[in-house]
Amino acid sequence: MRPAPAPGPLPASMQLTSDGRLRHFLTLEGLSAPLLTEILDLAESFTTVTAQPVKKVPLLRGKTIFNLFFEPSTRTRTSFELAAKRLSADVMNMNISTSSTTKGESLLDTLRNLEAMHSDMFIVRHSQSGAAQLIARHVAPHISVLNAGDGQHSHPTQAMLDMFTIRREKGPLNTLRVAIVGDILHSRVARSQIHALNILNTPEIRVIAPKTLLPKNVEELGVQVHHSLDRGLRDVDVVIMLRLQKERMRGALLPSENEYYRLFGLTRERLALARPDALVMHPGPANRGVEIASDVADGPQSVILKQVSYGVAVRMALMSMCMGNPPGSHE
Ligand code: NCD
Repeated sequence: MRPAPAPGPLPASMQLTSDGRLRHFLTLEGLSAPLLTEILDLAESFTTVTAQPVKKVPLLRGKTIFNLFFEPSTRTRTSFELAAKRLSADVMNMNISTSSTTKGESLLDTLRNLEAMHSDMFIVRHSQSGAAQLIARHVAPHISVLNAGDGQHSHPTQAMLDMFTIRREKGPLNTLRVAIVGDILHSRVARSQIHALNILNTPEIRVIAPKTLLPKNVEELGVQVHHSLDRGLRDVDVVIMLRLQKERMRGALLPSENEYYRLFGLTRERLALARPDALVMHPGPANRGVEIASDVADGPQSVILKQVSYGVAVRMALMSMCMGNPPGSHE
């Protein structure tokens, strides 16, 4: 069975203020190249904050941010929490799956309670596609919502930190060949990466996967499709590996993990087919010996840990842009 389709495109007005600034950050669809560039440039300036002995700026002092995680996550939740703290905001972590919703309270009642505590921003992760959008539609006008991953639909902050990493390590995206390899079908990260790469005018975006792990009509997203890793990796500047999202698979989409590794695992020999200076990326968590060999994940071309470091600066940029709007512009 194929997963349920993602929600339709969001009207740009839902995440932008009337003068075109970010209010919510829910999806990359409909956003412009100048806006994405502004996010990347601001993140660049925040990397210097994280390198200082006192890693804090007072930009969001007095603001209250709730991390609403309806799905387990350590890496992304910690990254948002650290970003909020480095901007001097007060941040509360709510592990909703183990609290109110299990006691029968509706999502909207939970939100109203948090609003009553004068929150300014909700960071939302949910297993249902469209959840962050739904919440954004119902919050009070002064509250911003950031999508930290909704179902199989979108994970826009991850895609922005990936763009940041590529731009920092390789230069502008409009000269590069980028390959995304693995379980594209179940990946909200891949969808957001493809949107971001297209908005930033990346001339060649390849997806490399077995047929069973590609969404129907994936070419319509503006990518080249390859079913052979060897052919697909040839001359690329960036290789983005994805995890097999076994928790989302229904039915037998793969013969076995060994067979998958034999055909689609990134080994040193295979990486040699890409450009000699090609970057190896992975949003994590990486499964060594399933989609990537250990010596490649830890090798000289890997920027996997840099992605994690840059993620904090990129999330600082997004939080401060969403909350930096003058009073009244949210209505
Ligand atoms: C990704 C996610 O949750 O979508 N991970 C992450 O945000 N660090 C990718 C994944 O789970 O494979």
